[in-house]
Amino acid sequence: MGHSSWLPTCSPWSAFATLATVMTSVLVLSYVSSSFLGQQQAAYEYDGPHSPDAGLSAAAAATVPTLRRGPGYPPVLAYYITGGHGDCLRVTRLLKAVYHPRNRYLLHLDAGAGAYERVRLASYVRSEQVFLEYGNVHVIGKGDAIDGRGPSAVAAVLHGAAVLLRIGAEWDWLVTLDAADYPLVTPDDLLYALSSVPRDLNFIDHRADSENHHVVVLDQNLLQSTNAEISFSSGHREKPDAFELFRGSPWPILSRAFTEHCVAAPDNLPRTLLIYFSNTLEAREFYFQTVMANSPRFRNRTVNHSFRVDVPPPQDADQKARYDALVSSGAAFAGRFGDDEALLQRIDEEVLRRPLDGITPGEWCAVGSGEDGAGECSVGGNIDAVRQGAPGRKLAGLMAGLVGTGPCDGCNS
Ligand SMILES: *[C@@H]1O[C@H](CO)[C@@H](O)[C@H](O)[C@H]1NC(C)=O
Ligand SMILES: *[C@@H]1O[C@H](CO)[C@@H](O)[C@H](O)[C@H]1NC(C)=O
Repeated sequence: MGHSSWLPTCSPWSAFATLATVMTSVLVLSYVSSSFLGQQQAAYEYDGPHSPDAGLSAAAAATVPTLRRGPGYPPVLAYYITGGHGDCLRVTRLLKAVYHPRNRYLLHLDAGAGAYERVRLASYVRSEQVFLEYGNVHVIGKGDAIDGRGPSAVAAVLHGAAVLLRIGAEWDWLVTLDAADYPLVTPDDLLYALSSVPRDLNFIDHRADSENHHVVVLDQNLLQSTNAEISFSSGHREKPDAFELFRGSPWPILSRAFTEHCVAAPDNLPRTLLIYFSNTLEAREFYFQTVMANSPRFRNRTVNHSFRVDVPPPQDADQKARYDALVSSGAAFAGRFGDDEALLQRIDEEVLRRPLDGITPGEWCAVGSGEDGAGECSVGGNIDAVRQGAPGRKLAGLMAGLVGTGPCDGCNS
């Protein structure tokens, strides 16, 4: 299938839109590949293996058990958590809620946040003993300019994915979260559920896109280093005929192989689609979905589900009904939470059992934790085992049903 013949189908465009596409596409490409190939000197980590903190992590490595992976062990997740101006506290709270020593965490505050906020986030990460000892939390030192509705949001995820691939740590899945998201299961439960499915699966809810005309937008964020609103052109464009468009939740869970496929782009499709979507509104709802659904290699390795649920708007239901809807959904994550402190607190207390301002407890921190998880999680517990609760078993059942197999402990890529 030729993927490069979409151009002739894209008229009529205003001259402005055409110019915009050409310019932005070139920039998206260089943006993504430069971060991957390392031609860019961006100080992207405060706490990475190459930063001055490396000595500290190396010292800690003596006491920290190295994690074991593969059949019979839980998978490893890589989280890309992104926020904007004023989100420092939400990001740290989310980090504590989803933290497990096996995983990798990359925190990103976009260009809307000040350098001060970024430093504050990094110093917070350094102040938490567990993060420091396991050395698995990283902060991007320079925020990408983003408008969540534009292709700059896709570019930022690809940038984050490239950094996570480079940091290494043989992770199995990429999970992207926003500061306004929150988990509905403990990290142990999520790892338990994911232990039961093959590790090359993608979880991307998607459907064929039925719209015939897409508006053309210009996302200035691809060109500059401060956040800008995207602008709309008067142009529309027809559906391409070389590939089919798919649309879904902007928060899929991607396998490592598929992430590498998109970041390193060994074949033309991911790049072609990056160009195609570089002036599309809501590009995040299209990019990964369309690349996957048009790739024979990944189409059959995808489950049509993202294990996410939308937070019911406050005007639709009372507090209790909203909580019940979230918890009974069986999803792993929910978003977007607004000014929902009471709701989040109830999830902390009843679902995660997360102590006030603490890290969600799990099997790994069983050692040293007091009654009701009142004690702090301490380093040195078993990070190769997880403790599942009813929500974990429910999620595993949902996954097994979607994958169409019974749970198979140790299925592996
Ligand atoms: C994915 O599931 C939704 C319903 O949950 C459905 O509408 C959609 O058509 C499915 N996508 C594909 C490609 O089958
Ligand atoms: C993918 O699945 C379809 C049917 O569901 C099958 O016809 C096709 O051969 C499969 N492709 C690969 C590469 O396994």
